[in-house]
Amino acid sequence: MTTATTHPALAPSRIGTHVLRNRLAVAPMTRVSATPDGVPTPEMAEYYTAFAEGGFGLIVTEGTYPDAEHSQGYLNQPGLVTDAHVAGWRAVTRRVHAAGAVLVAQLMHAGALSQGNPHRSGTVGPSAVQPRGEMMPEYGGRGPWPVPAELTVRDLDRIVEGFVAAALRARESGFDGIEVHAANGYLLDQFLTEYTNRRVDAYGGSVANRARLTAEVTAAIRAATGPEFLVGVRLSQTKVNDFEYRWPGGRREAETIYTTLAGAEADYLHIASEGRAFLETALLDGGSTTTALARSTTGLPVIANGGMHDSRQAKQVLVDGHADLLAVARGALANPDLPHRLAAGTPLEPFDRSMLSPRVTLENVRRWRKD
Ligand SMILES: Cc1cc2nc3c(=O)[nH]c(=O)nc-3n(C[C@H](O)[C@H](O)[C@H](O)COP(=O)(O)O)c2cc1C
Repeated sequence: MTTATTHPALAPSRIGTHVLRNRLAVAPMTRVSATPDGVPTPEMAEYYTAFAEGGFGLIVTEGTYPDAEHSQGYLNQPGLVTDAHVAGWRAVTRRVHAAGAVLVAQLMHAGALSQGNPHRSGTVGPSAVQPRGEMMPEYGGRGPWPVPAELTVRDLDRIVEGFVAAALRARESGFDGIEVHAANGYLLDQFLTEYTNRRVDAYGGSVANRARLTAEVTAAIRAATGPEFLVGVRLSQTKVNDFEYRWPGGRREAETIYTTLAGAEADYLHIASEGRAFLETALLDGGSTTTALARSTTGLPVIANGGMHDSRQAKQVLVDGHADLLAVARGALANPDLPHRLAAGTPLEPFDRSMLSPRVTLENVRRWRKD
């Protein structure tokens, strides 16, 4: 039997120009705990530092809004738009770096899935298609999603500019890189998804067209930030408002998306598993996985996600070549020191859903601890 200390997730790895102390990443988790104008708080610095001190090699922040127009998804979501945002994030990056982790800011445009935005009323999307499902109460929403306004090509140029400006602010804040959030049903995934993208211009129709906006965002950020700055992309088949969606073109569609983003000079691909376990969302016809395919198609480091706190699954995913890194969300909330526990062979605390209920805030966790 493999001892805990030889677990492959504990081996060092590389991403972009960075050497990571292991293969364990904290997955992005929205916590809606910033100030009302999106400034990260000292409590958020504490929260991120705990993962770094607990041994994680890479930390991806919660989805952060890149512009003061339609990108914000939730009230109390942090931003990367103002000088105050930069100052707030600086306190986070300084402490996380002191504790030895690489830190990446996830840039997220909510698009049609915005349920709290003080900057604008109404939502935007690739096409005027009402999103499936309902707003999420644990993030402060209620009722059906509004029908978004269809974005013009000029609007798209502005959105790309917003992502670039936010990436530059992330660099100024001390982040090692950014992750473009093109997963889970938010704006860039709305473009990738057939049923929310009914456009007949260069951004709709074929897979390459549907991936165009994500590629433009990625390439523009790379060009503005230079080769040293990490630029990753997060993708998923499932969505916060649709756990059943799978890329209709299967393997061929996945390959086109991956090669398009590799061509845009992404440093890594991160395949999320929203709402389902890894194998449920990653398995392709013929037994391969979306993550293994991403590796073989692009040669880039690939992060797998979905129940990776299970050390047996984590080991198998790495040993069988399905991924280079593993991102842990709920298991990391329950165990900010998961890498140290894995090294010591200490059992993990189970994740308790009431940590995130009725709200996903840090304050909710504080209350949960007292109970
Ligand atoms: C409270 C919470 C907030 C989340 N927020 C984000 C987010 O901001 N961006 C994102 O890409 N995924 C987000 N996710 C999805 C997770 O990153 C991850 O894909 C999912 O929880 C599955 O991983 P797990 O099985 O390790 O929990 C969130 C998940 C949770 C539980």
